[in-house]
Order: sequence, then structure tokens, then C-alpha cells
Amino acid sequence: MSDNQAVYRAAEIIQKGGIVAFPTETVYGLGADAFNPLAVARIFEVKRRPSFDPLIVHVANPADVKKLVKEIPSNAKKLIERFWPGPLTVVLLKEEDIPDIVTAGLPTLAIRMPSHPMALSLIRESNTPIAAPSANLFGYLSPTTAEHVREQLGDQVDLILDGGPCSVGVESTIVSFLEERPKLLRPGGVSLEEIESIIGKVEVHPIGEERPQAPGMLPKHYAPRTPIVLDWDKKNLNLLEDKNIGFLAFKEPKNYLKIRSIEILSKKGDIREAAANLFAAIRRLDALDLDLILAEPIPEVGLGRAIMDRLRRASTKGEIN
Ligand code: TXA
Ligand code: MG
Repeated sequence: MSDNQAVYRAAEIIQKGGIVAFPTETVYGLGADAFNPLAVARIFEVKRRPSFDPLIVHVANPADVKKLVKEIPSNAKKLIERFWPGPLTVVLLKEEDIPDIVTAGLPTLAIRMPSHPMALSLIRESNTPIAAPSANLFGYLSPTTAEHVREQLGDQVDLILDGGPCSVGVESTIVSFLEERPKLLRPGGVSLEEIESIIGKVEVHPIGEERPQAPGMLPKHYAPRTPIVLDWDKKNLNLLEDKNIGFLAFKEPKNYLKIRSIEILSKKGDIREAAANLFAAIRRLDALDLDLILAEPIPEVGLGRAIMDRLRRASTKGEIN
């Protein structure tokens, strides 16, 4: 089947109330017709996702937002003009006809226009906005290849579109416009610096807050099976000699590390490249049955903020400080 044929078939499935995994530039999504509550319910079932966790609705044209929300504040407009199509999600007051299951009963809707050509053709061919969370089991890392989706969800979805590895590799940045001042709910593929350069100061949500507004903000949301440790000290590595250790390096590591299982996110220390490789690298280490994964901290600028956010959520406080 050619890519085009696959997209036509996928669109047919969406129109008939089925669910389809599809590539976006950030991560793979698991999509259904946003206006078909039963189809959306199946997403929650397959992902084993709690129903209080709302979905992002994907559109193929910025003009479609008008039909889905009550109003678009000027700052939201500015960000949409600058970053769509791309890894930015805006949270706005929703229109009445959006099914409650999509927004988990909230009066608000998260919307984005992805830039991956296959995602765009799928939404256009389906002729409806597509509600889609990341195509992983709840609480696990987002998939960045079609193979990742197959491994976790396989035959539970009606079709998996393969659009190659995701170029951004971390989920979209979520900005809420419910209050006077825009609020960053999740750092992601568009950096805070880029956003603030367009609309000025944005309120930044502290990590691990008690009542998360976006469950993607739950402290342990992206956890692999193997414990990831971020706050380790190389002085204490000898304490781990009898342990089976993996290392998630940001760039080419120094030779003090005599660890066999190593993943280098970007040899030249490029943060964008590191983000694109992040989830696949963690998955490979997670598959090795290691006792522990030591992760090297990454500078928290640009996409580094999103990477460190995901690493913190994936990590546990180790005793090896
Ligand atoms: O890059 C992405 O955003 C990917 C691709 C597939 O588009 N999607 C994604 O979806 O990461 P998901 O469901 O894994 O994460 C969406 C996050 C969740 O943390 C959810 O709680 C939050 O968005 N969210 C959705 N609707 C919301 C709303 N109305 N208000 C606040 N947060 C919302
Ligand atoms: Mg997710």
C-alpha cells in the first residue's frame, strides 16, 4: 500500500468510528473523530487512560479553531500565526458541541495543528477534527516510531500509519489562555523562549503540583520500567559496581564511565537532536533489563526544558547521590 492509499484507508476508518495511530512531528498519536464519543471512548479503553484526562484535538487548518472554541484571545492568535503548523497546543474555552469525553468534562479544549504531512492529510481526508492522545499505554513514554506503537498497542488499533521517526521527539508545548496571563502547562517542542519572544512573559507552572491541570503533569507520568536516576554523582559510581547500569548521555561522554549500555542523545551536544532521540533511547535502555539508568542532566534552555521535564517525571530519587 502506498502512503496515500494508507491515508485514505485510515480516513475511512476514522469516519466509520474507528481508531488510527498516526505520526505527528512530536510523537505518534492515537486518533478518533472528535465528534464521535464512542470512538473517543475506545481510545481511553485501549490506552487504559483514566477518563479525567482530556485529549488534544488536531486540526488541519488554523481557521477551524473558530468553530471549536468561543473566542481566540489575541495572544493565542499571535502564537497560532507564528507556530502552526507545529508543536504548540493552545487551551481555550470550548464550544458546546464538543463531546464531554474529549475534554473530560472541562469547559476548555486543547487544540493544535500538527506539521507532519501525513497527519495533515489524515485530518483533511477524514473531514473532521481528530482527538488524539499520544499512542502509548497510560503512564508510559510516548512513541516516536510506528514500531513503538505496534509493540504496545499492536492489534488493538484499527490501523497504524507509518510516517517514519518523529522529527521533534517530545510532545507539544501546551499554553492555556483561560486567565489574563497565558500559562505554560507543559514544556514541549516550542521553547518557552520562543513563546515569550512573541507574547511576552508567560506564567510557568511548577512541576509536580498537587492538583495537576494536565495529567501529563503528574510527577511520574512518563516512567519506563527501569528506574532512571538524574541526581547521581560520579564520585559514587564505584558503589554501583555490582549493578547492571545503563547510561543516558547527553553528548559524547568522558572516559570515567565504564558502562557498557550507553545511549548518546547527541554526539555534538545539540539539544534538538537530543529531544528527537530521547524516547527511543530510553526505550532501548528499558528493554535491557538493567538495574538502573543514570541520566546526564541537560542544560535547561530551549528544548532542554522539555527534555528535563520528561526525565524528571521518568526518574525516581536514587540513593546514590
Ligand atoms: O505532541 C502532542 O501534544 C501529542 C501529539 C499526538 O499531538 N499529543 C499528546 O497528547 O501528547 P497526550 O494526551 O498524551 O497529552 C495531552 C496533554 C495531557 O496532559 C492532557 O491532560 C492535556 O494535554 N490537556 C488536554 N486537554 C486539556 C485541557 N482542556 N486543559 C488542560 N490540559 C489539557
Ligand atoms: Mg501522552
